[in-house]
Formats: sequence, structure tokens, C-alpha cells
Amino acid sequence: RVPVPALLKRPADLIVRPDHAHHAKIPLPGDLFAPERHNSGGIEFGERAALDRLLADVKAETTNLKPVTDATPEQAGAAIAAARAGFVAWSRTPAATRAAALEQAAHLLESRSAHFIALLQREGGKTLDDALSELREAADFCRYYAAQGRKLFGSEVAMPGPTGESNALAMRGRGVFVAISPWNFPLAIFLGQVAAALMAGNSVVAKPAEQTPRIARAAVALLYEAGIPTSALHLVTGDGRIGAVLTAHPDIAGVVFTGSTEVARHINRTLAAKDGPIVPLIAETGGINAMIADATALPEQVADDVVTSAFRSAGQRCSALRLLFVQEDVADRMIEMIAGAARELKIGDPSEVSTHVGPVIDAEAKQRLDTHIARMKTEARLHFAGAAPEGCFVAPHIFELKDAGQLTEEVFGPILHVVRYRAETLARVLQAIERTGYGLTLGIHSRIDDTVEAIIDRVQVGNIYVNRNMIGAVVGVQPFGGNGLSGTGPKAGGPHYLARFATEQTVTINT
Ligand code: SER
Repeated sequence: RVPVPALLKRPADLIVRPDHAHHAKIPLPGDLFAPERHNSGGIEFGERAALDRLLADVKAETTNLKPVTDATPEQAGAAIAAARAGFVAWSRTPAATRAAALEQAAHLLESRSAHFIALLQREGGKTLDDALSELREAADFCRYYAAQGRKLFGSEVAMPGPTGESNALAMRGRGVFVAISPWNFPLAIFLGQVAAALMAGNSVVAKPAEQTPRIARAAVALLYEAGIPTSALHLVTGDGRIGAVLTAHPDIAGVVFTGSTEVARHINRTLAAKDGPIVPLIAETGGINAMIADATALPEQVADDVVTSAFRSAGQRCSALRLLFVQEDVADRMIEMIAGAARELKIGDPSEVSTHVGPVIDAEAKQRLDTHIARMKTEARLHFAGAAPEGCFVAPHIFELKDAGQLTEEVFGPILHVVRYRAETLARVLQAIERTGYGLTLGIHSRIDDTVEAIIDRVQVGNIYVNRNMIGAVVGVQPFGGNGLSGTGPKAGGPHYLARFATEQTVTINT
């Protein structure tokens, strides 16, 4: 892990580039985190005083990354038993009370923004920009699921019929939900999963990624403080072996997982092989995400959006762009402009305000990416290689492939693969996208409406972004999640998510 200096350095001229479409404004405490807001917004640039205050607070944070001990299998089992014991009381707690606790959690999160930003930087390697976005997304999830939950779980639905009986449909928690979350959004996805499961009336055993247990621990402490009973939520730290103990346990009622397709399959098999109740799995996995840029696209915009989509967050978003299809006629110019924009990226210490690309998560990730880069150097044409400092950094790379089929797996880092296509072979591009088997995000850059519509009609991809970058789905606005190898649905931050965590009960009374 790259050593991250404890203090945030403030450059002489503080500029945070407004280069994410919906992150175009610096979010600041107080203004950003208006209590009534349940989705991302932002405030105008220029409020330097507020930003300075935030930076000073982050700098003053003295968060030490203390070692975290992995749970033993016995402790994991004990957590399930405790969650089982806590389920009844929590599931009977009125939905409005459950929602109020989540809203309070969002409020506390915002009032401790400096602390969480410092943690996200030190444990997760997040740049300031990414840490702010993540904090905002985490609060959004809490508020959005609270708002949805009040509607879904707040009252029964009367089902009037001709029989003279009274019929009502109610949604209830299923039991103990296991929530397994990834390191790339150690706060937002961790809290999103847990908030959804709790809002639906489940008790929860949460297992965060082994790389980021401290952020999870801080989030759980915050939920307790916000009013979630300690009997309803249990944190179990450890790696995949502990995850396997949890998912194999006979007393669980559901699993929500975000991570690799391979692990999702493994969990699915584990659940299917168990005797007893059929346990649902909600999985959000990865993708070989593509963007198609045709000759009518605006090259400057394509360059900016490609760089944001492929390289920001060090390419460690499941939504990130991996495979860019560029129309032959404009390919040379576009690649040159993309490389030019990539050259401007500053790679390094994530606690520096001016850094665009921070470290990858650990040495293992770096080694995997370096191996891929070495393979690409022999199999593809290198157009651009950035310079990375010593440590767990991987510089942005741009390779041109002869054929999209050369990329057979998700490469989780700042490596872009470009393929040229001719206008008359667009159908083959769509087939290549389909052949990956994934269906998470897709970018389209074109000014021809018919082309855009035809592509949207044809592909089975969960999130499609037209003439903009393809990362950073906004909770409650751009529900997020994919198809096929990319996940089971329903979409996180969307109106159907909570229902999958619940079970339905119809009561008929002969009056
Ligand atoms: N929700 C994230 C995004 O949209 C996924 O990595 O970028």
C-alpha cells in the first residue's frame, strides 16, 4: 500500500476541476448536505471559504489506521445467531422509525464529512474528488432508501375484492441478510447494501472487503449512533473465507453482494446447494464496459469523457470504460486527443487536492494490472503510457486492439483498449459487446439520433450514457446495475431495489 501522508497539502492555487457531468460542482458541507436533499446536487463554485474549511478539517483529522482482526468462523456464526435473535424486534419496528434512523445516519455522515474523507483517502486511496462523491452517494443511499421505505413498508395495501372479505398486502423483512461489499466503494456500497436491508426490516450481518474494514467499522458505529439497534446489525471482518462461512450458514434469509462475477457465481452455487429455504441473491458484479464514438461526435467532449470514464478513480469503478470503439474516419485524431487529455492527469498522492488518479487498492491489484499491460505490449499497439510514481500506482495506458475479442476479462484499472470500426460494421460492434456476456454500462457519443436509438434498442446493458461520461450514477436519478454476467438486478438507488430485500404477506379476513 502506498504510504499516504497524514496531512492534506493545500496547493497555492486551489482548483478542483469540474469535470464530472453531475459532479460539476464542489460539494460542500452545509450547502451540499441540505437535509431535504436525497440525491446528489451540489453548489456553485466560488465558495472557497467553505472548501477551505473542509480541507482544514480533513487535514486536522488524526485518524490512525489501526490493525483490524479478522473474525473467526465461530465469530461469524455467532454474528448470524445474534442477528437472528435481533430480527423479530427490528422487523416489528415501525417503518417510519427505521427510516428516521437512516436519515439520522445521513445527517451524521455529513456532519463528520472530514473524518470520512480522511478515512476514504487513507484506507481506500481515494482522491478528494472521489471521496467527496462517495460521501455524497452514501448519504444519498440512506435518504433515498428511507424515503422509498416509508412508502413501501409504511402501510399495508388494501386489496379490495368482490368476496366481502378484507384483503391486505404487506411487505416484511425476510430475516438475516448477509451483505458483502467491495473495496472500491467502501462507504457508499457498504452503507447502501446495509441501509436497504435494514429498511426492509431485515437484520444484517455485514462483511466488508478485507482491504477496507475500518471504513466499514466507522460506518457501523455511525449507524448505531443514529439509532439502529446493535442487535439488528453485526459487522464481521475478514476475507472471502469468512464470506463463505456466512453464505453457507443455514440460518440466513438473503445475500446482497457486490464484487466479481466469479465470486457471485460461487455464492449462487453455495446458496443453491443448501437444504432448507431458497435464499435469494442480489448481485452486482463487473463489466467489460464499452463506449462507441462515431464520426459525428465532438472530439473534445469524447476525449474528456473517455479520460474521465477510463482513468478517473484509477479505473477502479465497475462502471468504468474498458473498450472504446472509434469510427475509423476519426480514429487517429480521437486517439491523439484522448492521449493528450490523459497526459494532463496528475497521478500520485490522493490526499493532494490536485491529484486526479490515486493508487490502485493493493500490491496484488497492481501486479495483476502490470501483467495485463505487459501482455498488451506484445499483443496490441501502445498509444499512450502515463508515468506513475513508485508504489501501488498504475499509470493510465491506451492500447489499440485489432479485435475486441482480445479483451476477454474485466481489467479493473486505468487501462483503455481501443478498437476501430467502419460505419457499415456497427452491427459487428454491437455483437462484440453482446459477446462479452456482460451488460453493465455503455457510452454512446454520436449526434445522429437514429444511430443512438438503434444502439439502445439492440443492447442489453443496464446503464447507457449518451454524449457524456459513463461513471458516477446518481442515487434515485440513475438507478445502477447490469444484466447477464454483470448482475442479477434490481438496480441500486432505484425504486425496485428494496422490494427484493423483503417478502410479501397477504392477509385475508372473512369479516
Ligand atoms: N455506481 C458506480 C458508478 O456509477 C459504480 O461503480 O460509477
